[in-house]
Amino acid sequence: MPATNLTMSATQFEKLRKVVYDRSGIHFQDSKKYVLESRLSRRLEELEFDDFDQYIMFLTAGPYQTDEFQEMFNRITINETSFFRNEPQLDVFERQVLPGILEARKSSKTLRIWSAACSSGEEPYTLAIQVHRSLGVRLQDWKIEILGTDISEKVLMTAQSGKYPHYAIRSVNEMVLSRYFKQDGSMYQLDPTIQSMVHFEKLNLKDRLAAKRFGSWDVIFCRNVMIYFDDEMKNHCATLYHEQLQDDGALFIGHSETLRNLSASFEALPYPQGFAYKKG
Ligand SMILES: C[S@@+](CC[C@H](N)C(=O)[O-])C[C@H]1O[C@@H](n2cnc3c(N)ncnc32)[C@H](O)[C@@H]1O
Repeated sequence: MPATNLTMSATQFEKLRKVVYDRSGIHFQDSKKYVLESRLSRRLEELEFDDFDQYIMFLTAGPYQTDEFQEMFNRITINETSFFRNEPQLDVFERQVLPGILEARKSSKTLRIWSAACSSGEEPYTLAIQVHRSLGVRLQDWKIEILGTDISEKVLMTAQSGKYPHYAIRSVNEMVLSRYFKQDGSMYQLDPTIQSMVHFEKLNLKDRLAAKRFGSWDVIFCRNVMIYFDDEMKNHCATLYHEQLQDDGALFIGHSETLRNLSASFEALPYPQGFAYKKG
C-alpha cells in the first residue's frame, strides 16, 4: 500500500533533523523542513511507510540502520558542483600555491591533495588536470595522490565512472575540453590518465578518526560544504584540517564560507583573485 500521509510534522522534523545532525553534522534550518520532507517522502513510499514516525523508527532502531543512513544521505545531500568551479580561486591554486609546494617537495617528489566533500568528483579531477598541465613531462617522476571523499555513495559512483553530462563541463574552456575529455553521445568521458591520478573513498567529515587515517596533506580543498554545518561542526572541520594539513600546506574553502571565529588558527593568504589559507 502506498503511503497516505507524507507531511512531516514539526515534531517529526525536530527528531529527524537531530538524527541527521548527530550522524553527519548537517544542520537543517527551520526554513529547510520542506527539503527533508520532499526528498524523503519518495523513500517512505518505497518502504511503504505511512508516516515519518515509522521512518524515524526504522532509521534509528531497525536492523538496517547503516544501510538506511547511507540511502538517506544519498537523497538529502546537496551535490551541486562542476569542473573548474570558481575559476579565479583555482587559478590561485595553480599559479600561486602549487608552484611553491612543488618546489618545496622537489626532493621527495610527492604531492598529496585532499578534496573533502568532493561530490561527483569534478573538483578533484579539476585539480588533477591542473597538476597534470603544471608538471607536464615531469609528472612521471612524481608520486601524486589526489583523494576525493564524500558522505554520499551515489555521487562517488559517478565520480568513479569519470563520465559527465554537459552541465558538469559547462565552465571548461575549449582547449581543456578537447585535451582532457572525449565526447560520447551526450556525455563527456574524462581522460584515463587524469582519472588514474584520483581515487575516491566514502568519508563522513564527522568521523575524525577515519579522516585522520588518510594522513597529512599538502593541499586541502573543502569547498561549499561548511555552509551546511552549524558552528560546532564548522569548528570540528577546521580543527581537522589544521591537524591534517602540512605546516607549509594550503587550505581552500568556498567563496561564501569563512574560518573567522573558529578555534583553529588559519591565516588568509592575500591573493586578489581568491582566498587560500595557511596554518596560523
Ligand atoms: C555542494 S557539494 C560541494 C562539492 C565540491 N566541493 C564543490 O565545491 O564543488 C557538498 C558535498 O558535501 C557532502 N557532504 C555533506 N555533509 C558531509 C559530511 N558530513 N561528510 C562528508 N561529505 C559531506 C555532500 O554529500 C555533497 O556532495
